[in-house]
Amino acid sequence: MSVLEARIIELPKFLDARGNLSFVENFKQIPFEIKRTYWLYDVPGGECRGGHAFYSNEEFIIAMSGSFDVVLDDGKNRKVFSLNRSYYGLYVPAGLWREMENFSTNAFALEFGSTHFDQADYIRDYDEFLKLKDDGKI
Ligand code: TYD
Repeated sequence: MSVLEARIIELPKFLDARGNLSFVENFKQIPFEIKRTYWLYDVPGGECRGGHAFYSNEEFIIAMSGSFDVVLDDGKNRKVFSLNRSYYGLYVPAGLWREMENFSTNAFALEFGSTHFDQADYIRDYDEFLKLKDDGKI
């Protein structure tokens, strides 16, 4: 998987004087079936999250409030996606090293996953990640 396969997807937006509304659906705005939803909040200033890759979990990440950067790395190229609006989502294919950083105060990251939680799906060591990439295993 290459970082070029990650992409920002603009979500539907119903602007309304009473408050705006956006939504996502499986296989429509989100290019997989959602099996899991998790979120990050109360991230202290200067903290980084998510230094890992997944063998098979794909993700879709939305900044529901505040802002943060998602840094993706495929072992050769690195790309930084800045998220700061609730009507944009970032699609992250499996097999990419990803970190999340530069969280603003009150940042709230909503994440959808394509698999149920499985500790064995994580690659947490960057050198091991590079080796798996070199060997064509991810
Ligand atoms: P982790 O994915 O390592 O967080 P991050 O990528 O943001 O640094 O998850 C932190 C802890 O939460 C880890 O011990 C596993 C647990 N966890 C679950 O039990 N279920 C889940 O769906 C997720 C995402 C994490």
